[in-house]
Amino acid sequence: MAETTHFGERTVPLEAKQGLVNEVFHAVADRYDLMNDLMSGGVHRLWKDALVSRLAPPKTGTLPYRVLDINTDMLRVGEERARHWRFGSQARFVEANAEALPFADESFDAYTIAFGIRNVPRIEVALGEAYRVLKRGGRFLCLEFSAVDVPGFDRLYKAWSDRAIPPIGKAVTGDGEPYQYLVESIRKFPPPGRFTAMIERAGFKRVTHTAMSGNIAALHAAWKL
Ligand SMILES: C[S@@+](CC[C@H](N)C(=O)[O-])C[C@H]1O[C@@H](n2cnc3c(N)ncnc32)[C@H](O)[C@@H]1O
Repeated sequence: MAETTHFGERTVPLEAKQGLVNEVFHAVADRYDLMNDLMSGGVHRLWKDALVSRLAPPKTGTLPYRVLDINTDMLRVGEERARHWRFGSQARFVEANAEALPFADESFDAYTIAFGIRNVPRIEVALGEAYRVLKRGGRFLCLEFSAVDVPGFDRLYKAWSDRAIPPIGKAVTGDGEPYQYLVESIRKFPPPGRFTAMIERAGFKRVTHTAMSGNIAALHAAWKL
């Protein structure tokens, strides 16, 4: 029997998921950051800042880095933005699959992924690839939605997710479907304990997670030792 996975609440053949995810991000790429600001009240920027501070990259601007995404439209928008980044000229934009990184073993000091892994059909394969390309002593940082665990706030968050996000998405991008997928994909993502175990199974050590904003999001950190 063919292997299946989730696309939001739907069960789909594993092979079909990537194409469906690509359609979502193709549809929202140009309004993606605006929507993030509207849905999170700008807080997504603080979560991403937290990832960068945890990484503590050198401030000299001499560090080359790769920005990878499977979706041409998301990359195009990112590349346009990079013109205004302080160290944007150090970035190379690479269209590739997180499940099959086009990089040599042990070639990076750090691997970061923000709100990406939830969308990858074979999460274990992507974690294995992250491990493979990191040098010994390399840092793994993953920002992802999590499961709100603050009583009272969880109900509010559920109501906001179900009743506000898809309509805001429809108003801003002309289509509520991608945002229905967003809400559902957050619910299907493994809870922190289970995701920690997956990171450990990939070979990483000292795996931790830090809850942010009542655990709406979590920063998962680990080392390749
Ligand atoms: C929610 S967006 C996050 C974008 C950006 N990292 C951020 O933090 O704003 C998820 C991204 O994951 C990308 N993606 C989905 N599947 C992927 C895969 N197999 N390999 C690489 N990128 C993938 C999508 O194209 C999309 O741009």
